[in-house]
Amino acid sequence: MKGIVLAGGDGNRLHPLTLRISKQLMPVYDKPMIYYPLSVLMLAGVRDILIITKPQDRQLFEDHLGDGAAWGIRLTYAVQPEPRGIAEAFVIGRDFVGDDRVALILGDNIFYGHGLEHLLARAAARDTGATVFGYFVRDPERYGVVTFDAGGRAVDLAEKPAEPRSHYAVTGLYFYDNRVLDIAAALVPSARRELEITDVNKAYLEAGALTVEVMGRGFAWLDTGTYESLVDAAQFIRTLEERQGLRICCPEEVAWRRGWISDADLAGLARPMAGSGYGTYLMSLVDEDRRKGGQHARSPE
Ligand code: G1P
Repeated sequence: MKGIVLAGGDGNRLHPLTLRISKQLMPVYDKPMIYYPLSVLMLAGVRDILIITKPQDRQLFEDHLGDGAAWGIRLTYAVQPEPRGIAEAFVIGRDFVGDDRVALILGDNIFYGHGLEHLLARAAARDTGATVFGYFVRDPERYGVVTFDAGGRAVDLAEKPAEPRSHYAVTGLYFYDNRVLDIAAALVPSARRELEITDVNKAYLEAGALTVEVMGRGFAWLDTGTYESLVDAAQFIRTLEERQGLRICCPEEVAWRRGWISDADLAGLARPMAGSGYGTYLMSLVDEDRRKGGQHARSPE
């Protein structure tokens, strides 16, 4: 399965922060925003990832993340010249996806919760159809909204409806079979002149091929698009990391726990960052693992 991180968008609600720097490189406490969605794809077992940016940001991302080899993954880059919608990712990424399945995640979406890896594994294991996630929110009118019937089956999808029929927003994480390429290619822009991901999901729903998993209230799905939500997300990450001494969505750790990089590789990544808590954390993973005789595949529950 391939992965795409969509890191376009003009970030205008974060100006002047994002006048020169991409929103998805903004800090969320101790790491750049894009580390969170990248970690989610890696937790889903995806190792071949396309990062789509605005043209002017591409180099910055490439300088920062490189080809992914240091994290045991493969990163490639493409640009979205104008913010023409989430579904355009599959037009831009058509050759990259080839005849594979694909997971798409928005570069500003943060997910956290017990059992996330399990939820991701289940979605990634579905050979056909699409999987999206419904998350209960206070303000569904800001999102794609999914409505369920009494039996819990998804019956309706609407993009930013003025009068939402449910409180379940569709999150910015999507798993598709290869049909998505043709579905996206055939889309026509919506009234806001975007290729809507909700239209893609509707096509799957109509074909009886859409699974909507409820991401329960024990999960956090955080927004980072405004000053307030950016600070809230950082505070949330800080609170948990301080309490547990475990870092959240640390791609180096995910790669190491999955065995994609060795102890020596992780130590090598940690060394240049030894002056920061992030660097000492990575180093401590290797040290503690040595003390315990190499149990690193097991993450604390
Ligand atoms: C987009 C999608 C929407 C989805 C949301 C998740 O909204 O169009 O369906 O619920 O991402 O973050 P937008 O970012 O375009 O407001």
